[in-house]
Amino acid sequence: MRKRKLLYVAAEISPYANAGGLGEVGRSFPKALQESGDYEIRRVMPNHKAVEGVFQYITDYPVAMEQGFETCVVKTDSKSNDLVTYFITNDRYFRRDNLYGYEDDGVRYFFFCMAVVELIKRMDFIPDIIHANDWHTGMLPLLIKKEFPKIKTVFTIHNISYHGYIPASYLNGWINMKEQYALGWPEWLNFMKAGILYSDLLTTVSPGYCEEIKRPEQGCGMTGLIEQREDAMVGILNGIDTEHYNPMAVNELIHPFDSNHIGEKSKNRTWLREHYKLPEDDRPLVAMITRLDYAKGIDILLKAISFFDFSKLQLMILGSGNPYYQGLLASITAGYPESIAVDFEYSATTAKRIYAGADIYLMPSLFEPCGLGQLYAMRYGAVPIVNPVGGLKDTVIDDRENPENSNGFYMKEWSGQALNEALNRALNAYHSPDWAHYINNCMTYDSSWKRSVEEYKKHFDAMFEKKQKAKADKTDKADKTDKADKADKADKARTRLVEEAT
Ligand code: GLC
Repeated sequence: MRKRKLLYVAAEISPYANAGGLGEVGRSFPKALQESGDYEIRRVMPNHKAVEGVFQYITDYPVAMEQGFETCVVKTDSKSNDLVTYFITNDRYFRRDNLYGYEDDGVRYFFFCMAVVELIKRMDFIPDIIHANDWHTGMLPLLIKKEFPKIKTVFTIHNISYHGYIPASYLNGWINMKEQYALGWPEWLNFMKAGILYSDLLTTVSPGYCEEIKRPEQGCGMTGLIEQREDAMVGILNGIDTEHYNPMAVNELIHPFDSNHIGEKSKNRTWLREHYKLPEDDRPLVAMITRLDYAKGIDILLKAISFFDFSKLQLMILGSGNPYYQGLLASITAGYPESIAVDFEYSATTAKRIYAGADIYLMPSLFEPCGLGQLYAMRYGAVPIVNPVGGLKDTVIDDRENPENSNGFYMKEWSGQALNEALNRALNAYHSPDWAHYINNCMTYDSSWKRSVEEYKKHFDAMFEKKQKAKADKTDKADKTDKADKADKADKARTRLVEEAT
């Protein structure tokens, strides 16, 4: 069978440029899908300032924007033996310190979408499927429908709370008034709406989140549209690259280990303590690796710290971003030099060493479409405490709900007190003979992409079958009309004969 061609489009793909989970998935999912055998994948992303690599020029072309044409230069990373990735280069839009957060983000990512459409016209790779991710690529399903009606589009929502807007004038000539009203108010068009409305298949990154965004409190104004698309929508859990996040890998951990040698894990904890100048004693090490952001529960953690009994635990935080929270954390830490360590310089290796050294991992997110931190933590035998929302509920099994298979602890509500209460349950378990069981359940949890890739493929297939079915229905209908027409004509002829004969 011919392999299907899929073009994966995202604003970030790790390790080239990465602001969070979106980039991590861009690294691992397309690779897993290609390795599954039936798909040939290429990827495309903006050539952000952070992107490093050896670049080979592929082509350049003008892209029509509202104010005239902008140049797009396309490059690839010629030294990479990973999937082919195209980098959309335009220094005005993408040579910036951050990936997002600018006044003209809508214009920048509209350029990106238009540049992808133009690229398809010039590539030696005609995709069967375009897989767009999050709002930055939300206009693509609409543009593709107009320009290449045969290509199927998939739109994955990683986070429905960011939308992206562009003045309607950018799409002059592309859309009619009805579409303009569907996308905007109507002067500003919403990328997220376009992705939701015009994709053939709509996915989110966990079944739990898929249900949550159907409710107004979580739907961020999109509930009505989601209702319209309910039949085309499915929640599929993210996986992780289990080779990249591998506690046995010798090059990153000082003391590699696996689930049969859990004893080795404590050596990683000792190493961490030395590194962060925390005393070695029998308190468990509780860690949190996070963007310092309200939605990640950093305020909840700050509240919970006032309840924590530091004679029973040590706390290690690796946090990036928001200087306000950095200041608060630094001043709290100064009061507990023997119990809390903070590091504001994120690196993937530091993160892995913390997962490997931690006994317990905190993830008190307000909402979490999937969450990858809990999956990484489990892979390295750090038992998670989570607010059971979205993908956290789908991946972590609470000690009270299912003690036999439990791999973590749920907070009973989103508050500092509830975090402290869940932590106390975890600390009790830590001192019981069951603890090894928790670690084992975590480390044997299958977080690979295997199952989810199969699910994506099933839904991709259905997308094509739907088309065939629609075609078959149409032929069937045409056949029936044809037969009815013939019968009608025969009837009329018979009537005429009868009339003539009488
Ligand atoms: C976003 C979501 C996170 C998810 C990630 C990858 O960052 O907030 O929950 O894991 O995307 O899909």
